[in-house]
Amino acid sequence: MPRPIVIDTDPGQDDAVAILLALGSPELEVLGITTVAGNVPQPLVTTNALKLCELTGRTDIPVYPGADAPLQRDLFTAEYVHGPTGLDGVDLPVPVTTARSKHAIDFIIDTCLAAGPQGVTLCPVGPLTNIASAIAREPTIIPTIREIVIMGGGFFEGGNTTPVAEFNIYVDPDAAAIVFNSGAPITMFPLDVTHKALVLPEDLDRIRAIGTTVGDAVAGMLGFYERHDVEKYGIAGAPLHDPCVIAYLIDPELFIGKACRVDIETDSELTIGQTVVDWWGVTGSEANAMVMSEVDRAGFIDLVVERIARL
Ligand code: RIB
Ligand code: CA
Repeated sequence: MPRPIVIDTDPGQDDAVAILLALGSPELEVLGITTVAGNVPQPLVTTNALKLCELTGRTDIPVYPGADAPLQRDLFTAEYVHGPTGLDGVDLPVPVTTARSKHAIDFIIDTCLAAGPQGVTLCPVGPLTNIASAIAREPTIIPTIREIVIMGGGFFEGGNTTPVAEFNIYVDPDAAAIVFNSGAPITMFPLDVTHKALVLPEDLDRIRAIGTTVGDAVAGMLGFYERHDVEKYGIAGAPLHDPCVIAYLIDPELFIGKACRVDIETDSELTIGQTVVDWWGVTGSEANAMVMSEVDRAGFIDLVVERIARL
């Protein structure tokens, strides 16, 4: 039986690869895509999700528009990384399909409450505004959530938006605090592991060689997306942050981590959005997340290339 998942996303080129990886993997059933303002604002993130479903011919996948701002803070976006469209590097046609009229938060709640015996796996790869809002509005969904698999945060690696805060958590730290304190089973993919999930030039060549419309689109997006981090970090390729979440669901053996207590800074302007990961267990606090730190990069890339080629 495929695993039922909801992808909560702010496309974003790396979100796009995560969505495509999920659509190319029969192990997963994408019940819906919910969008959240992050890399670029609403309605652009929703338009981008529709474009990706049309790119793959998967217009059967419902797209639900979600939050257009964090719970308390002003929206902070990342066009400096993703470009003004959020999917720079490829020119996808204006969607002919439309998003559902139901709000993302209502879809998440309704889907969880209707969950079958497998429960629902929530896959937030943007700010956690929708997930937190659903949990806060309807706490009875918590026992129906099989796992919340989050791309966000950083500990030894620090931050990519401030010295200590990663973008998804920085944009909505209040939402992140609600999610990490919810008691739901959490698996976290921080920068410590996603900065090792690099797509190198030879990997990009493999994607270009697929020779399909989807392969060409992915190559174009990643070719644009990599420039920021390659220049900033002096690394050989772009980190595939969000696809780590989906790859873990398909093949968890690709990753190593450990259970830790994770708390979120929501007050100090100096460290707002920091994920305080008790990696060495010094607080004695009960763990609330499985925190990933290592990835089999080659195996991860092989999976991404192989599944993209199926689309
Ligand atoms: O910090 C990386 C995360 O922020 C990724 O999810 C990327 O898409 C942006 O949302
Ligand atoms: Ca994202």
